[in-house]
Amino acid sequence: MGFFSKDIKTLDDLFVHTLQDIYYAEKQIEKNLPKMIDKATDPQLKAGFEKHLQETKGHIANVEQVFQMHGAKAKTVNCPAIDGILAEADEISADIDDKQVLDAALVASAQAVEHYEMTRYGTLMAWAKQLGRSDCASVLARNLKEEEATDRKLSTIAESKVNLHAAE
Ligand SMILES: [Fe+2]
Ligand SMILES: [Fe+2]
Repeated sequence: MGFFSKDIKTLDDLFVHTLQDIYYAEKQIEKNLPKMIDKATDPQLKAGFEKHLQETKGHIANVEQVFQMHGAKAKTVNCPAIDGILAEADEISADIDDKQVLDAALVASAQAVEHYEMTRYGTLMAWAKQLGRSDCASVLARNLKEEEATDRKLSTIAESKVNLHAAE
């Protein structure tokens, strides 16, 4: 099923399709975070990734809840965007030897992931409200809040030390 495949006819169909997209993305993120935990050197960065792995499991459960509330089957649809972001994260970290520079790269990759999630949850919330599903929007808001908090925390870690060490 392609992005512009004709079986998306209504805003409701588009909402469900995009829910399937973020469901896939969250599962890929869950699979990839352990690699980032392994690669991180800064203890706060490592702990932050570990915490976000736990939060990501909650995001998956929340998305499943929205599927259920909306009367749709929980299933994934391929998301080339998140695959690309995660593949790029792997590539760049494989090219770096210096641990401090690697931490800076990991933060950058993780923030690209968070921003992808934020844009999807923002859109899904707007569509849910338009479709009269404020109940779904408020579940999605819980995920969005944690993605935003993670993004802010990553900025703080980068700007307060990781970037400084990387530049040494
Ligand atoms: Fe997430
Ligand atoms: Fe996230």
